[in-house]
Amino acid sequence: MKYLVTGAAGFIGSAVSERLCAQGHEVIGIDNINDYYDINLKQARLDRIRHPAFRFIKIDLADRDGMVGLFADHHFDRVIHLAAQAGVRYSIDNPMAYADSNLVGHLTVLEGCRRHNIQHLVYASSSSVYGLNQKKPFATTDSVDHPISLYAATKKSNELMAHTYSHLYGIPTTGLRFFTVYGPWGRPDMALFKFTKKIVDGEPIDVYNHGDMRRDFTYIDDIVEGIIRIQDVIPEKIPEWTVEAGTPATSSAPYRVYNIGHGSPVKLMDFIEALEEALGIEARKNLMPMQPGDVYATYADTEDLFKAIDYKPAVSVRDGVKAFVDWYRKFYLD
Ligand SMILES: NC(=O)c1ccc[n+]([C@@H]2O[C@H](COP(=O)([O-])OP(=O)(O)OC[C@H]3O[C@@H](n4cnc5c(N)ncnc54)[C@H](O)[C@@H]3O)[C@@H](O)[C@H]2O)c1
Repeated sequence: MKYLVTGAAGFIGSAVSERLCAQGHEVIGIDNINDYYDINLKQARLDRIRHPAFRFIKIDLADRDGMVGLFADHHFDRVIHLAAQAGVRYSIDNPMAYADSNLVGHLTVLEGCRRHNIQHLVYASSSSVYGLNQKKPFATTDSVDHPISLYAATKKSNELMAHTYSHLYGIPTTGLRFFTVYGPWGRPDMALFKFTKKIVDGEPIDVYNHGDMRRDFTYIDDIVEGIIRIQDVIPEKIPEWTVEAGTPATSSAPYRVYNIGHGSPVKLMDFIEALEEALGIEARKNLMPMQPGDVYATYADTEDLFKAIDYKPAVSVRDGVKAFVDWYRKFYLD
């Protein structure tokens, strides 16, 4: 099959592209390679894919004409849409980047799917949509109407936009709410990467909310496995579905939303301990207050996803952090 993977130079998009090629599919990967973080890392991720079935095209999702041309030139069967302006904290100072990449960008992808009869659009949402929700674990049956960052609001908007297109044009769409993905080739703006760099450089690490946070850390290979499996589960219409009797994660339209997370929150301090162990260095810690836009804990209810794909994330934090540290050493220190 021919796939469009957006965000192909990104952490998750590069890993998904590589996996699809290995499975014998043709992949057109797109990315604007923006400098939100080190573009050398983005380039290195693309270099690592090195497969004859992979072709990279540099394009911005918000380039409306360019995106129309892209869909017209290639007859994609399926789309895995992972490009976005990520990051909760960055959205405090740079809100417009989120409007361009996550709102306009999501719409150009939806329009492409609409015009070219795409079999299935799988796109990235985020655990951040749970915002002020207190009930744990977070379930897709819960309402998610109270985001606390613009990033989260754009991700929730992506789900709403996808639902509209599924309803109006019958495009099967699946939204995946990722829970703190980590692992080799990971993002420099995320805690594991920042902590590792600082500890290796002998600097203290900033630990927010005095370390009293929990995250449902999910290893990259588990995420890739989930994406690969779910893109074969094409949502169908449920004609008898109603708002009153149904759940927010399903619809009369061919629309689904799933959580994709490990399903076991880890205390931030335990995560740091796993990192210290993998590095063999004890971290000096700056205990800081909570940051605006951050949530105290994330915890995924993944029952729906498990039922749909018969797979549960399996990699433990200890093993996953060690794999990250091994990669970091090889990539940055050797
Ligand atoms: N990594 C996580 O923990 C996590 C958690 C929740 C949700 N997500 C979502 O998953 C997706 C992938 O995340 P990631 O961790 O791989 O992030 P990433 O930043 O590594 O990858 C995103 C890629 O999209 C590209 N991009 C951004 N704006 C673009 C635009 N306008 N046009 C073209 N390309 C553009 C970037 O250059 C980047 O390479 C994102 O949608 C993100 O919001 C990730």
